Amino acid sequence: MEKLVNLCKRRGIIFQSSEIYGGINGFWDYGPLGVELKKNLKDDWWYVFVQSRDDIVGLDASIIMHPETWVASGHVEAFHDMLVDCKSCKKRFREDHIEGNRCPDCGGELTEPRAFNSMLKTRVGVSDDTAIDTYLRPETCQSIFVDFKQICGSYRVKIPFGIAQMGKSFRNEVNPRNFIFRSREFEQMEIEFFCHETEEDYWFERWQEYIWQWYLDIGIRESKLRWYEHPKEQLAHYSKRTVDIEYEFPFGWGELQGLANRGKFDLSQHSKHSGKDLSYFDADRNERYIPTVIEPSAGVDRTILAILCDAYDEEIVEGELRIVLRLHPRIAPIKAGVFPLVKKHGLAEIAMDLEKKLRKKFMTFYDDSGAIGRRYRRMDEIGTPFCITVDFQTKEDGTVTIRDRDTMSQIRLPMNEVAGYIQSKITHER
Ligand code: GAP
Repeated sequence: MEKLVNLCKRRGIIFQSSEIYGGINGFWDYGPLGVELKKNLKDDWWYVFVQSRDDIVGLDASIIMHPETWVASGHVEAFHDMLVDCKSCKKRFREDHIEGNRCPDCGGELTEPRAFNSMLKTRVGVSDDTAIDTYLRPETCQSIFVDFKQICGSYRVKIPFGIAQMGKSFRNEVNPRNFIFRSREFEQMEIEFFCHETEEDYWFERWQEYIWQWYLDIGIRESKLRWYEHPKEQLAHYSKRTVDIEYEFPFGWGELQGLANRGKFDLSQHSKHSGKDLSYFDADRNERYIPTVIEPSAGVDRTILAILCDAYDEEIVEGELRIVLRLHPRIAPIKAGVFPLVKKHGLAEIAMDLEKKLRKKFMTFYDDSGAIGRRYRRMDEIGTPFCITVDFQTKEDGTVTIRDRDTMSQIRLPMNEVAGYIQSKITHER
């Protein structure tokens, strides 16, 4: 983890928020490469689960919602961590994160557990008498339930169908830790899939298949993934059944995505609290009912961390350490590095011109400083899958070399075929 965290900082992928002020615990910034990586991941998810399917529609709702939302959802009442304090060193811990009944740091005596709500409060409105207290959303899905009637009434959707949303969520985590694994501000990608209750098991199984396959499609090794079934007595307040996909991080197995059967809980609660009927009339069944909800809920940042951990590799090449991120070409922040073998003899102009053309199609990086081997290494450690080199032969026959990041082998292609070659490697096969 330390190597990965250092690489992310050194290359401006991900680093601590507000670092010049000493940082703020649980908040992270994505730099120039990180933002591309994250965007590629989110675009891929949207493509697979929204664009390429005819049974899912999208939503981009506000982060701050009417405060009653969080009463109805059960978060005000039940979104708690049980905390204990050490009577000696005064440190605070989540009860479920410690073994035994002594302080894990100093061995001191612990207080009785107390409930601590994890939602981040905020205040909206300018004058004291009209301002209201509400929360930054702790999960993106509640707006999907609250907007359910609006979407059914304005877009042609028919059960079974899903509404997808990605965006920021906030939780006042007691112990933000393990880099971006557990933070206080993070992004989720959630789908609420609405079906008839007689089909809940069918759709639960289908969603298990879809979400597992997606991790393989973005390049994660299957041997690093496993299912975890939540025991009945530990289910969240809204859930009838939850299974998680876990990834084996360097610090142990951790949840990447939860798949829950939320039953009719949320729509029933919002019907009750808003006084609006959120039932659905199913013309095929000639039946009015509150739909059952199957919810795949993934974390963007945790997926990024799993991708980075899975891709990080070190090897000795010609007596030197090579750090390489073996990212799937679709997810890699930069698709191609373009270099002139030497700056002189007109090679730099040809390379610059080629890079300018490729840049219109995908992210590229022009580099003419230092030995060619160094330039390859700089691209390897940020996961750039292809490096294109303009050399003396280019001037004779218009061909360039394309080096593959993983095998380090090279092929020659005419310059006008380079864009098509790279495009074929980053376009979805689905
Ligand atoms: N709507 C259901 C829900 O929010 P969750 O299991 O609490 O379920 C879903 O969260 C996903 O969101 C998790 O699998 C994880 O990937 C991500 N997530 C949750 N808390 C997080 C945190 N503090 N930091 C980073 N990611 C988090």
